[in-house]
Amino acid sequence: MGNQLFRKKSIDQIISDSEHGGSGLSKILGVRDLVSLGIAAIVGAGIFSTIGLASFNGGPAVSLLFVFVAFACVFTALSYAQFASTVPVSGSAYTYAYVAFGELFAWIIGWALVLEYAVSNMVVAISWSQYFVSMLEGFGIHVPRWLSMAPAYAIEANQKMLEVGVDKLTGIDKLALEAYVTAPRIGNVPIIFDLPAGVITFLVTILVYVGIKESKRASNIMVMIKVGIILAVIFGGLFFVKPDNWTPFAPNGLGGVMSSVAAVFFAFIGFDSISTTAEECKNPQRDLPRAMIYCLLICTVLYVAIALVLTGMVNYTELNVKDPLAYVFQYVGFDHMAGIISVTSVIAITSALLVYQLAQPRIWMTMSRDGLLWKKFATIHPKYKTPSYATVVTGIVVAVPSLFFKMDFFVDLTSVGTFFAFILVCAGVLYMDHSGLSKKSKFRVPYVNGKYLVGLGFLIAMVLLFVYGQDTITEWKSMSALYILEHKSLVIIFWLVWIGMSFYAFRLNFSLLPTTGILINLYLMTELGASNWIIFILWLLAGLIIYFMYGYRHSRLNKEAKAIAE
Ligand code: ALA
Repeated sequence: MGNQLFRKKSIDQIISDSEHGGSGLSKILGVRDLVSLGIAAIVGAGIFSTIGLASFNGGPAVSLLFVFVAFACVFTALSYAQFASTVPVSGSAYTYAYVAFGELFAWIIGWALVLEYAVSNMVVAISWSQYFVSMLEGFGIHVPRWLSMAPAYAIEANQKMLEVGVDKLTGIDKLALEAYVTAPRIGNVPIIFDLPAGVITFLVTILVYVGIKESKRASNIMVMIKVGIILAVIFGGLFFVKPDNWTPFAPNGLGGVMSSVAAVFFAFIGFDSISTTAEECKNPQRDLPRAMIYCLLICTVLYVAIALVLTGMVNYTELNVKDPLAYVFQYVGFDHMAGIISVTSVIAITSALLVYQLAQPRIWMTMSRDGLLWKKFATIHPKYKTPSYATVVTGIVVAVPSLFFKMDFFVDLTSVGTFFAFILVCAGVLYMDHSGLSKKSKFRVPYVNGKYLVGLGFLIAMVLLFVYGQDTITEWKSMSALYILEHKSLVIIFWLVWIGMSFYAFRLNFSLLPTTGILINLYLMTELGASNWIIFILWLLAGLIIYFMYGYRHSRLNKEAKAIAE
């Protein structure tokens, strides 16, 4: 059974499948189109919404976190690029894992990608709702709070109010309390849900179902709108920046900054999605790596600038809002500008919603073709030529939770799943190097021998910890073993992995960049907190149950192997 679980697709087989499957996609995309598609996928709820809470927690120093997270993404992007140049077919990390690690890992990655695409879209839908409601307010139309809010916010705000008093509530908490107080009730239970989030998901699903095509032109227009708003906020906001607001730079210390890892990482998710267009690139080997790096560079510069402007315009404590880009202008009394930002943001966020709502069904379709999901997921609509069943399922899966759950919960869940996928893609490159598959790659992650450097990095980190981290060491000494196990096991896992990687890097001459990618992604993942890991592990277990109940037996590779044996 062991061998069966790790049965692999060969690169030649995948390429031949894609050629004979007659995808017939035209090879039209160049670097500029890819950058545009990348930015269309990257810039969404992260920079329009979650940056608010991130700045509230971390203060102006969150701008530096954007740079740090961008490094993790660059190393991962190079690994994605190597895979995309070796297996230039759609399917992204799922297909790569099928080649590198075999079917079980492919399934696990495909299952984790649901978090990156479907769950992240729940965040985008909720963010859309916030901007939509604020846009309507600009036109004097008031949507009842209880119709545009997740019940969890309202219940929490009521709890907070009981604990600290109504005067202490700010930002979204105030609105959430209004929802709680004004909601109609069945018995004692308040009826509260986020109707606009559900409705927009429903509408976008209809568009995707009838086959709206992400044409080059549409994507370029969307990107121009998005980048235009962000530049307007940066340059318009500069006039209102008060440098005093940047002091203290990290009001809640390193802990406050790192508590925003999920939100900041969320803002970068999506650069990997352009690897799915490998079959449509004029020169994927040359253009995909470049485009991913350009996207990341552009977004990092924009994000750092936005973070500095927002925290410079208002005190960071004001930013606990879900529509920060519009809010800061309202705050400084520029209601017109706030209005324009709200309207254009609604358009920009809709486009982000569309990108992932298109991507998720296509990944399910690929998995279904491989026999790992029910055949229905590969059904193509006879008239619209879209994966109709998978599209409807995606619509339901995204719309229903976005009516009821908090955005923050989904941000954490998406991030933990995406970090996991990124780690496996970086590890896949190490495997390709080791097994000789890298020889088939037309683009290779620049090779720097990590034989000594990975271990040396570990030693340097230890020295730095002893020199600068005495407080942390004292804190650890005061903890009981049980407490450490309960609260610090993720940190221990990280250090153990680094030791293990140092050992294997020494033995196998690991390439330094993907190894660094694994370590940084893992480090950031440990910052997400144990409860997110637990939910993620439960998610993986649910996926494994489905695989063993269905995919394992129905897998195309399994059937082919059986046919050959007979
Ligand atoms: N990066 C994407 C966004 O911010 C997921 O919406």
